[in-house]
Amino acid sequence: MLGAAFLACILVLTRATLQGPSGFDLGNRAVQPRSPSSQDGYGATCEKIARSISSASQVFYPWSQDFDSDIAHWTNSSSQVSACSVEPGTPNDVGLILREIAHSRVSFAVKGGGHAYNPGFSSTLGVHISMARFKDIIIHEERGTVEIGAGLTWTDVYAYLVPKGLNVVGGRLNGVGVAGLTLGGGYSWKTNEYGLTMDTVTEFEVVLPCGEVKVVTEQDEDLWFALKGGFNNYGIVTKFTLKSHTQTDVWGALLSFGGDLADPAQTAFANYIAQQHDPRAAQLGSFVYSNGSVLFGISLFYDGPSPPEGLYDDLLNMPTTTKSIFNGSFTDFVSTQFIPLNKRAYFDGVPMLHYTKPIMEAFTNETQFWGDRLSQYDDNVLVAYGIDPFEPDILTHGGPSAYPPDRSRVFLPSSAYRGWTNESADEHMADSLRLSTAALIEAGTRDGQDLENAAPYVNYALFGTPLELMYGSEHLKRLAEIKQKYDPGDIMGLTGGWKL
Ligand SMILES: Cc1cc2nc3c(=O)[nH]c(=O)nc-3n(C[C@H](O)[C@H](O)[C@H](O)COP(=O)(O)OP(=O)(O)OC[C@H]3O[C@@H](n4cnc5c(N)ncnc54)[C@H](O)[C@@H]3O)c2cc1C
Ligand SMILES: *[C@@H]1O[C@H](CO)[C@@H](O)[C@H](O)[C@H]1NC(C)=O
Ligand SMILES: *[C@@H]1O[C@H](CO)[C@@H](O)[C@H](O)[C@H]1NC(C)=O
Ligand SMILES: *[C@@H]1O[C@H](CO)[C@@H](O)[C@H](O)[C@H]1NC(C)=O
Ligand SMILES: *[C@@H]1O[C@H](CO)[C@@H](O)[C@H](O)[C@H]1NC(C)=O
Ligand SMILES: *[C@@H]1O[C@H](CO)[C@@H](O)[C@H](O)[C@H]1NC(C)=O
Repeated sequence: MLGAAFLACILVLTRATLQGPSGFDLGNRAVQPRSPSSQDGYGATCEKIARSISSASQVFYPWSQDFDSDIAHWTNSSSQVSACSVEPGTPNDVGLILREIAHSRVSFAVKGGGHAYNPGFSSTLGVHISMARFKDIIIHEERGTVEIGAGLTWTDVYAYLVPKGLNVVGGRLNGVGVAGLTLGGGYSWKTNEYGLTMDTVTEFEVVLPCGEVKVVTEQDEDLWFALKGGFNNYGIVTKFTLKSHTQTDVWGALLSFGGDLADPAQTAFANYIAQQHDPRAAQLGSFVYSNGSVLFGISLFYDGPSPPEGLYDDLLNMPTTTKSIFNGSFTDFVSTQFIPLNKRAYFDGVPMLHYTKPIMEAFTNETQFWGDRLSQYDDNVLVAYGIDPFEPDILTHGGPSAYPPDRSRVFLPSSAYRGWTNESADEHMADSLRLSTAALIEAGTRDGQDLENAAPYVNYALFGTPLELMYGSEHLKRLAEIKQKYDPGDIMGLTGGWKL
């Protein structure tokens, strides 16, 4: 069986032609422009795929409804109209698709939940693979694990598990895909308790670039390391098995502070973060440019039906602009959280060691500064920042992984956000993010933090971020060796994303 798979690999590699990948790539890897001949190549590859796959899978062409949903993303700027989309229904068919792609060497995309905001990371002009048919959830109560299909979103997962009194460590907002979040790390409402999502994985079912289906566990040292942070560089994951835990009702609060209320609220939030260390508590801070000034927001989560007496007194007793208290199911809590949807959107990752009052002032200043300036490029611009105060021990729940580069230094995954509508403003938005992140790192350094080589979160970092910074040079070296072993023909190099 294994021998046959390797034979297939060799066949694929020797038959590969030299046709280059096409479409844009705003990652860190040059890609040739689209040409008419590669367009023909796409069509022929789509047809070959349609002929080779089983009846569990299907190929769709523009502009069918299935095609539209296959290529759709959270934000339009992450979508491209591909030559065709294919929905594989079995891991074996994923293997057959990868073999056809390897033969013709056309560019392709792999999409899970479609929440990537870097253009080209899960879109293509070539063959778009949508994981939509991998939708099974299987609970193994005795093992304390849950198998989750790679086409599901966290909304689907919570809707199934939470009513059964179970949960896993997943995304904080509705709609985010299980696949991309897990393969990039995964910061959750439960991370202070259980670690990053990838650190709760017990098994990956992955289709290797040569088409072989493999179950990867801790025993497979190389792939176990590479898949956690390595996204689509080592194959296509069809199923994740995650540790599960019991889930009770939860408590939450959303507070906002405008005008003069923001400054004392930031002082109180900084004090709260410095003093409380209950792992069942999680919190987010946000800075949103709104109507000419900065609105500061605090989102509180407690993993239990009511928080311990007094924990939130200082925050809840402050004067607020808006205030809502939540108690109920975890699923309903997640629905209270949202980022306004914009037609176009970019994020950047802003690594920090801790959030003091001066750091919050720097975030406020950046929000004001760019909010004032970016409306000249787009009337509908949304300028926002997020701070994620996690506990300093969150990385002790797991072992070595592609990301982060060094588990002894916990960089908090703060983020900078721009949402807008007019495509002509794209470059201004990206530039403003780069400048703003640099200014915030500088502010952190002035505040006494050692942010040299601070790694931004791979799921938030803006296209163009150096790989060295996100993964570290030691990990990059190991990742390149693993890549050479499992993908010597660089088949996964034909798809977008951080290319290791
Ligand atoms: C509104 C919003 C909220 C968010 N909240 C959080 C949060 O709480 N915590 C957090 O950590 N992150 C969060 N993120 C970031 C999120 O984790 C990333 O955007 C993530 O990559 C999305 O995964 P996806 O499957 O939806 O995306 P996709 O766009 O489908 O995929 C992202 C990347 O993963 C690759 N990929 C997808 N499926 C597979 C597969 N089966 N095998 C191999 N590679 C695959 C894609 O090719 C692509 O490069 C949020 C993002 C948004 C837009
Ligand atoms: C952008 O979004 C609109 C509707 O929200 C959709 O009709 C259109 O097809 C999308 N474009 C792409 C390229 O996905
Ligand atoms: C925006 O600010 C102006 C002037 O401060 C005020 O008159 C207006 O009501 C505000 N609009 C909103 C939507 O808050
Ligand atoms: C939850 O909310 C209900 C009202 O919606 C309230 O009666 C109840 O006391 C709350 N429970 C807790 C634990 O806060
Ligand atoms: C506010 O931010 C801008 C842009 O980064 C910077 O030039 C300015 O010095 C900052 N002001 C303060 C008071 O920090
Ligand atoms: C988009 O921006 C361009 C250049 O600034 C401008 O000419 C155009 O009118 C804008 N389009 C919309 C719909 O705002």
